[in-house]
Amino acid sequence: MKITPQMLQEMKRRGEKIATLTGYDFFTAKLIDEAGIPLILVGDSLGMVVLGYESTQSVTMEDMLHHVRAVARAKTRALVVADMPVRTYDTVAEALRNAARFREAGADAVKLEGAVVEQVRALVAAGMPVLGHIGLLPQSAAGYKVRGRTALEVEQLLRDAKALEAAGVFALVVECVVADVAKQITASVSMPTIGIGAGPGCDGQVLVSNDMLGQFTRFSPKHVKRYAELAGPMREAFVEYKREVGSGKFPGPEQSF
Ligand code: KIV
Repeated sequence: MKITPQMLQEMKRRGEKIATLTGYDFFTAKLIDEAGIPLILVGDSLGMVVLGYESTQSVTMEDMLHHVRAVARAKTRALVVADMPVRTYDTVAEALRNAARFREAGADAVKLEGAVVEQVRALVAAGMPVLGHIGLLPQSAAGYKVRGRTALEVEQLLRDAKALEAAGVFALVVECVVADVAKQITASVSMPTIGIGAGPGCDGQVLVSNDMLGQFTRFSPKHVKRYAELAGPMREAFVEYKREVGSGKFPGPEQSF
């Protein structure tokens, strides 16, 4: 049965943790789904880990649509959330128009960064489930700094979480926030919080799949745990292939007709 936003909210009520991963292609989305992960985020982290941009700020609608379609083709049980790129939801009208394109591409929901309550309210009213995102907001942040270290920041985070809850988000990503503050946010809202660099007190966790697989090695933030080291074996396989083509070992009789 397809996972719905309501099912994720029931998981929070039952105290079941929500494991989330990013996915950008058909093959990986299938594997994530087969592992029983209920939420796949086609994140705009795509820009850095797949497309080679410096930041998420260069990601376009066309980039995202291409990858949302690939993930949607996997026909996952998991809920597929499309990250709306920077400047595609500056106004309510833009948010509605671009979210409709994501729906057409096969997304089940969209994610928006920040307390953009008018846009969230309009999308929810139009029947598009929305995943909120507070804390570090890579689309607008000047640097990668942990949030919630001052009383003022804590107040703002709690205010934003409550405003997004009232606007109707079905869950909330909390990125790079002091663990105790993320726990406080989690206790103060009814929808699940999905943490990244926000400690164990959130209702769920999200990691960028290329980070946790050890495929993206340009830098590794403190919050990332590597569950595999795929870059090394991939590099070795490419080198071995080149060597065998050079020596004539590949293709052998087994690979010839
Ligand atoms: O783009 C992304 O992958 C994200 C997650 C890190 C939450 O926004």
